[in-house]
Parts: sequence; structure tokens; C-alpha cells
Amino acid sequence: MNSSFPFAPMPDEHGFFGPYGGQIIPPPLKQAMDDITAAYLEISKRADFQKQFAELRADYVGRPSPIFHAERLSEQLGGAHIHLKREDLNHTGAHKINHCIGEALLARFMGKKKVIAETGAGQHGVALATACALLGLPCEIHMGQVDIEKQHPNVTRMHILGCKLVAVTRGQATLKEAVDSAFEEYLKNPTDYFYAIGSVVGPHPFPMMVRDFQSVVGREAREQFLARHGRLPDYLAACVGGGSNSIGLFTAFLEDAEVKIVGVEPAGEGLDRPGRHAATLTQGRPGALHGMKCYVLENPDGTAAAVHSVASGLDYPGIGPQHSYLKDIDRVQYETATDQEALDAFMTLSRIEGIIPALESAHAVAWAMRMAPTLPSSQNILVNLSGRGDKDVDYVAQRLGI
Ligand SMILES: Cc1ncc(COP(=O)(O)O)c(C=O)c1O
Repeated sequence: MNSSFPFAPMPDEHGFFGPYGGQIIPPPLKQAMDDITAAYLEISKRADFQKQFAELRADYVGRPSPIFHAERLSEQLGGAHIHLKREDLNHTGAHKINHCIGEALLARFMGKKKVIAETGAGQHGVALATACALLGLPCEIHMGQVDIEKQHPNVTRMHILGCKLVAVTRGQATLKEAVDSAFEEYLKNPTDYFYAIGSVVGPHPFPMMVRDFQSVVGREAREQFLARHGRLPDYLAACVGGGSNSIGLFTAFLEDAEVKIVGVEPAGEGLDRPGRHAATLTQGRPGALHGMKCYVLENPDGTAAAVHSVASGLDYPGIGPQHSYLKDIDRVQYETATDQEALDAFMTLSRIEGIIPALESAHAVAWAMRMAPTLPSSQNILVNLSGRGDKDVDYVAQRLGI
């Protein structure tokens, strides 16, 4: 990799990260997106916005989140030390609250009357419903019927938090269909509605804006790791669905050529089983989805392929445009973990460290568990523990017969 590559400022003014990103959308939506871009660039620099955002991050979300040295796990595996950035300790239990507070705050500053979003695992939906309750904004969440059944605790939480939940039954009834449905609702009145996308995906400015709101994770982690160890980690690892927790951790380290950066995609039931994994960067190709150019898992006719992961938040046939670019320039390496490996990591971390991870995060833990024994004990792997597994315990217990 060329360490002098200019990672910032990215994207360009049209929302491109190299050839990826942009706004692949109809003209009426383009105007709405341009309005959000202009509002974001202006409002996010204002002192009153920054003050309120910083206060909410500290007093409401509970930032900074700590880094925990998983000593027993590291000892058992032998080799490199594994450290966990504890985004699972945030209010609502995942990294999603970082961008939801930002998006909801922006919607309120813009005078929007309703906030709309999709959700997969329900973490983004819960986080957004929480932020909207806090800021007094009406909230509508679209969720696939399959995920509604699988992530029941989060569905109940969203009801309690007072948001309107729309069940999406078309197609595979998972995340992609939820995005389609939420976009349709948003298009009914883009002037009064705000679409709070749940990851670094969609048309410009969302991949940039959600990344900016999430990049607090990496800024904190870099400072915390340096203060504790006097050096940077050798590896970063994070699971990749749309790509928000991973880009949140990676951004502050992109210029550090000595830090190897790994995104972990869901290999589901195996990369040799089309439709039963969601390893977009590993097996997809450049295309367009949901208003952006990015890698896509496609059927031969160019439509988005069916995807699967044991983790609802990872089963998406697209990927953020910045990740697509970081893959092409070889700055980030994209690896995979299967459903079974994620389930094993879920149980291992629970039993050895007393931390029940989200099934999404368990993919990154699984990769670290595979990698650590191959490295010397002088090396450190920093894993983004993007969320806690409370939402997954019933599903896992049923699946493993516990
Ligand atoms: C805990 C957790 N981690 C990761 C993800 C994947 O999303 P992203 O790749 O945007 O971080 C999700 C999505 O729902 C999630 O709930």
C-alpha cells in the first residue's frame, strides 16, 4: 500500500470514494440528498450542535467506551493478545447509537417532522427509536418479517420506545427489503421526512455522514491504546455488514501503514453456497444498489442476490462505497467467518470472559481467535466488539439446544 495515499478528505464533493459511492437516484431524491448534504456540512460545524452532540455522547451514550484486554481468551489461544473495544457497553448495547444520535440531532436542527429507517438485527431501530424518544421526534422503522421473528427482544424494545414498526413481508423479508420499503415511505415526502440510514451505505451524503458520526470509535481507541501500551495495535478487526462499526474503528488508523486492518464478512453456511452467505467484497463485483455504486452480490440478471447470515445485521448484498474502495487499493483486507465459527466465538467469549457478544460482532471475534495463535505473543489484535448479544440469546440457545 502507498502510505502517502490521501485518505482524507474523502469522499469528493460528489460523494465518490474512487469509483464508488455517488448518488444513483431519481432527480427528486437528488434534491433532497443535496439539501441534507448542505445542512450536514453547515450544521455539524456549528458550536451549538457540537456542544449538544458531545454532551449526549458522554452523558447519554456513556462514551468513551473502554478497551478490555481479553487476557484469559488470549492465554487459552496462545499467540497474539486480543483486546476488545467495548461498543457493547454503549446505551442500547451497540455502536449504532453513535450515528443515531447524530442523525436524529441533525433531523431536529433541520426541523424535520418524522424520522424513518430500516433495521436488520434491530440494533439500529432500537438506537434510532431511543434517539427520537430523547429528542421528541416521531420515528418509523421498517423491518423484515424474518428478522422480526428472530430478534424479538429488539422488536419489543422498539414498541416500548414508542416508534411505529412496519413489518416488511416481500421477497426474502430481511434487510434489503426493509431498506426498499423505508425508501418508498421516505419518497412520499422528502421535505418533511428524514431517512436515517443505519450504516455507511446509500446515496451521498450518508456514507460520509454516518462514517463521521462513527469515527469517534477509532479516535478514542487510538488514543486509549497508545496511552496504555505506548504503541498502536498490530491488527484491527471488525465485522462488516453495511460497514459502519468497521469504518468507525478504521478511519483513525488508515494513515498508520504499520497497522493491518481486517474487515470480517459473513461466510454464512459457506462461500461455495450462493444465497447462503453475504460475503459481498469477497465474492461480489462492482455494481449499484440503494443509490450508491459499490460491490454487490448479484444474480446473473443483475438483480441483488439472496443472502444469508446467522447475524441479521450482516445479511446485506451490498457494502459501503468506502469499503469497496479500501478493498481495491488494498488498504483493508477482507476476510470471512462462517455461521458456525461465529456461534463458536459467541459461546467461547461468553464462557471465558463473561461477555456475550452480538452475533455480528462474534464474526470479528472468530477471525481474531483464528488469527491469534498464528502470531507471536508480542502482537496485539484490537477487535471492535460492536454490540452485546442479549438480542441473540434465545436464538442461540434454541439453535444450540442449550
Ligand atoms: C451489533 C452489530 N454489529 C454490526 C452490525 C453490522 O452493521 P455495520 O456493518 O454497519 O456495523 C450490526 C447491524 O445491525 C449490529 O447490530
